[in-house]
Amino acid sequence: MTGSTMSDQLSGRVAAVTGAGRGIGRGIALVLASRGAAVSVSDLDGAAAASVAAEIESSGGRSVSAAVDVTDPSSISRWIDSTIAVLGQVDICVPNAGVIGAAGFTTRKDYNSDDWRLTWGVNVQGLVNTADAVTPHMKQRRYGKIVNIASHGGREPRGVPDPGRGSIQAPYSVSKAAAIQWTHLLAIELGQFNINVNAVCPGRLWTPMWEAIALNHKALNPELSALSAREIFDRNIKATMPLGREQTPEDVGKAVAFLASEDASEITGQALNVNGGAIMN
Ligand SMILES: NC(=O)c1ccc[n+]([C@@H]2O[C@H](COP(=O)([O-])OP(=O)(O)OC[C@H]3O[C@@H](n4cnc5c(N)ncnc54)[C@H](O)[C@@H]3O)[C@@H](O)[C@H]2O)c1
Repeated sequence: MTGSTMSDQLSGRVAAVTGAGRGIGRGIALVLASRGAAVSVSDLDGAAAASVAAEIESSGGRSVSAAVDVTDPSSISRWIDSTIAVLGQVDICVPNAGVIGAAGFTTRKDYNSDDWRLTWGVNVQGLVNTADAVTPHMKQRRYGKIVNIASHGGREPRGVPDPGRGSIQAPYSVSKAAAIQWTHLLAIELGQFNINVNAVCPGRLWTPMWEAIALNHKALNPELSALSAREIFDRNIKATMPLGREQTPEDVGKAVAFLASEDASEITGQALNVNGGAIMN
């Protein structure tokens, strides 16, 4: 036993989280801060990122924020450089920003080319852009923890509409499968620099993203028309989760904190389901 506690699990570390203005990214940022890390919070919505940073500071943590578009490599590079300038380093990077589909997703049955472009741009190229911006720094320091946020939707095609009910979630699921493969390949590449690369695959969380999915289910399934989006989500949880409950952003944050900690120093190239047992591979 080293005598360390959860509250100093990540003390002295600096974490950078994308898409952290709300939802899961916010939960990850708050957990990492509660474990002692200084956190650089970024989001496409700069005001939302600033409010999460303020929340961390008001609970006694250290945080900075920035408006960042993960599809734009120069935007991410500027953010990583300014994080290093202000907080001294980046030890932990959590590429979390993600999208479910393009405009009109909630009412469409089938994908369109914008869904493919957007999910690939944010959920895959966004992870690559973020890694490209941070890995030169991590390689130089011969230390780093990258935790990509994928999805159990990248494992098995469950939870998508039944046959005949459309292909609307295909671009998202394919992008998340790519995120898992990207995690494997990057881990192989960066192991020699003492950089661990893992992924967390969340299950189902009540965030604006799942609200959009529930609205889509409702639009495609006449039998769900009398239910609210939240009721559709609750039914889905009961039908799919062995543990019978939804996951929370804090649950995902705790898994990220573990993978970013020294307790996980021999874990790399893995994708960890935090999904109540809904999918078991
Ligand atoms: N909610 C779920 O049930 C669930 C399940 C599995 C995986 N995930 C994944 O978790 C991550 C977070 O999901 P969430 O539910 O919190 O979604 P969300 O829609 O609530 O939040 C996503 C955040 O990403 C930001 N974002 C979108 N595009 C961006 C861009 N180009 N650059 C920077 N930021 C951008 C948004 O502004 C938003 O703050 C995503 O990668 C998502 O695919 C979510």
